[in-house]
Amino acid sequence: MNTTTRGAMARDDWWRSAVIYQIYPRSFADASGDGVGDLPGITRRLPALAELGVDAVWLSPFFTSPQADAGYDVADYCDVDPLFGTLADFDAMLANAHDLGMRVIVDLVPNHSSIAHAWFRAALAAPPGSTQRARYIFRDGLGENGELPPNNWESVFGGRAWTRVTEADGTPGQWYLHIFDSSQPDFDWTNNEVQELFRGVLRFWLDRGVDGFRVDVAHGLAKAAGLPDYTPPEDSGSMGGDEADVPYWAQEGVHPIYRDWHEVLAAYGPDRILAGEAWVEPLTKLAKWVRPDEMHQTFNFSYLETPWAADRLRSVVDESLAAFGSVGAPSTWVLSNHDVIRHATRLALTPPPPQGQGLGPASTLHPDAVLGLRRARAATSFMLALPGSSYLYQGEELGLPEVIDLPDSARQDPSFFRTAGKMYGRDGCRVPIPWEASAPATGFSPTGSSWLPQPDGWADYARDAQAGVPGSTLELYRSALTARREHALGDGELSWLPSSDEAVLAFRNGEVTVVANTGSAPVPMPVGRVIVASGPVSEGELPADTTVWLLDA
Ligand code: GLC
Repeated sequence: MNTTTRGAMARDDWWRSAVIYQIYPRSFADASGDGVGDLPGITRRLPALAELGVDAVWLSPFFTSPQADAGYDVADYCDVDPLFGTLADFDAMLANAHDLGMRVIVDLVPNHSSIAHAWFRAALAAPPGSTQRARYIFRDGLGENGELPPNNWESVFGGRAWTRVTEADGTPGQWYLHIFDSSQPDFDWTNNEVQELFRGVLRFWLDRGVDGFRVDVAHGLAKAAGLPDYTPPEDSGSMGGDEADVPYWAQEGVHPIYRDWHEVLAAYGPDRILAGEAWVEPLTKLAKWVRPDEMHQTFNFSYLETPWAADRLRSVVDESLAAFGSVGAPSTWVLSNHDVIRHATRLALTPPPPQGQGLGPASTLHPDAVLGLRRARAATSFMLALPGSSYLYQGEELGLPEVIDLPDSARQDPSFFRTAGKMYGRDGCRVPIPWEASAPATGFSPTGSSWLPQPDGWADYARDAQAGVPGSTLELYRSALTARREHALGDGELSWLPSSDEAVLAFRNGEVTVVANTGSAPVPMPVGRVIVASGPVSEGELPADTTVWLLDA
């Protein structure tokens, strides 16, 4: 770090108001030319993020992995997969980010490892009842010869959540639990060795200087004793959400784990954070994840799943501020990530498909791209004015839509295969992002190769095609982030203002007035000097699906 610390680097409690940009390494920037993004690619492109004005980056997994679930199947938690580079590349990336005044958090995947992890290989080689098997969730099958799975649980990615192994002597043997793909065996978090392994993983990355961790499936680590049968409701989203009493989600046993990790991090100083990926509703329950001695933040998926409608937005904002505020935590806000339909597409769908379902050529929903982008820009402008911390997903600052017409042959999400194509899955939000309109692979890769094909028209969204262009989505993000910082909105307080139209939401945060028209007709323009506008505005009118920030005239 430089001797003069900048931006988020200057504050211990940076995370309370930070804008954190998610980098999905395989789709961000490819320096090696193999068509998969990598750490040197990230390092090269970090200045563009500093210029955009974000406070921190979160990197999805780049650890050693067979990549069965795009790296969320980790074989070695303390090394970099050659696909992404080396530990030295990581150190260089981290130092560069810090020099640019940005914090860095990395993904921690503690619910499961890869089947290629040394511990799982040892478990397969060892007999039932061994200490090696006790690190995972192995059980005898039901039925006369153990031919039936130990319970009825289903994988989030489709199909059953159990796979039967072949014992060392060649006979059909026990079953292991995998809430996700069969390549992702769940750890048994009651096991001391597992607990100790992860303390070591945290320290390994903290010693290298990371600022924190995004904790994958932070509502899944503890399973109900006895692993009782459970059938999810028909229309439920795959990650659980508001389902009650699910024996593998939101069990009390997760909380001691986070209290333990909180202490591990605290030993490195007050500025290291845990951010949980917990799909838990209602928000009052989710707030347990961020009690003062647990995590610092948790993703607000209730907010992400709220449609673009004034009454619903107002409720979710109130509920979020109240729930997180009741435990002294900041609220977080998010609209897109690598697991959901990009909000420039999703906000044009009523109702959107459940999380994880995705969109593809045969989907019956046909989003209106113009409407989607207009709403996305208005929704982001609304979000970035809220007090608390906001997460952005790479490419949303370019207005990227979900890529729907990916051919089956290109798809890689395990859920597509486990459901025989019934779930399109998440590939459509993971297409490598465009940097330069006229470069090979729109600047993603010097060779023009790209692990998922970039669609026609991708160049129109390229960063260099938007930079400096008034009214472009990139310039909207830049101006909103600048004004957010200048007026300290992340550290501010929200008070609602009366509005004469039920489709209009208005609030005050410090000296800034924010007005969002979620309706389909224009409304009179509020008085004030516009400093951010999500779309074209004229003197007298605030158009449909438009948000403005105003200073008193
Ligand atoms: C989380 C990740 C997702 C991954 C899953 C299993 O939900 O965000 O991408 O597939 O966990 O690790």
